[in-house]
Amino acid sequence: MIDPHNLPKHVAIIMDGNGRWAAQKNLPRIAGHRRGIQSVREIVTFSRKLGIEALTLFAFSNENWNRPAPEISQLMMLLERYLKQELKTMMENEIRFRTIGQIERLPSSVLRMIRSVEEKTEKNKRMTLILALSYGGRAEMVDAVRRMMEEFQEEKISIKDLDETLFSRYLYTQEIPDPDLMIRTSGEVRISNFLLWQLAYTELYFTKTFWPDFRRKDFLLALLDYQGRERRFGLVTEQVSHPGIPRKEGSPGTSVKRLLEDLQGGEEREF
Ligand code: FPP
Repeated sequence: MIDPHNLPKHVAIIMDGNGRWAAQKNLPRIAGHRRGIQSVREIVTFSRKLGIEALTLFAFSNENWNRPAPEISQLMMLLERYLKQELKTMMENEIRFRTIGQIERLPSSVLRMIRSVEEKTEKNKRMTLILALSYGGRAEMVDAVRRMMEEFQEEKISIKDLDETLFSRYLYTQEIPDPDLMIRTSGEVRISNFLLWQLAYTELYFTKTFWPDFRRKDFLLALLDYQGRERRFGLVTEQVSHPGIPRKEGSPGTSVKRLLEDLQGGEEREF
């Protein structure tokens, strides 16, 4: 049973294993990325239907710039096409699109597309989709410190103002609340420079499933696992009387089977 009142507000995902998925099938790596986009589409619309408020997807890391040039350009092409094709879905579903990362490093046509989708979806309020692009957690913190130092020099802030709240305002994520749940696919059990500051109290979930195979059922299993966790934020059990603690008998819930039946009909589209 999934408890609709205890869903994570913000889910972050490291979408890993596209290359291995393709290799297993003797396909080129790009085939894995293409299939991975189908998982992206499915998880985005499913999250929206479930009422999740924010979904952050790690789509391209700072380290990914070191991949072979053809793979980078194929990924950029897929990203541009994804944004072009998904704008309609984002508008229909009232999804706001944002990015985090050093996006100025992306090719200009991709950057233009990002700016355009960000602008067009700016007023959408039902869910925020955040793509981490050209993103690295350490770079994010260094960028934050650089901006703070500039503002310090300009006497806009003083040392006594500095606390965790102020610091977090200089991160790419700014007003986005920290993730409640972070999922990583493909069996790797690492954070890999993803949201280093923001994951401080996030529940972590690792699955062996490769990203191109990660679909609604797998997502629900992650949510179920999350609902069995007790989130204490450094307190003791008696102090935390809310979500995370397993539900009492008879409290409202929807079975996974039922949810999947209700939500049938997400069409598959080839990329
Ligand atoms: C990890 O698989 C995945 C990536 C580096 C990129 C993720 C990109 C997509 C899902 C497609 C583009 C995304 C959007 C939102 C348009 P990997 O290549 O590292 O796999 P491996 O570890 O098995 O080699």
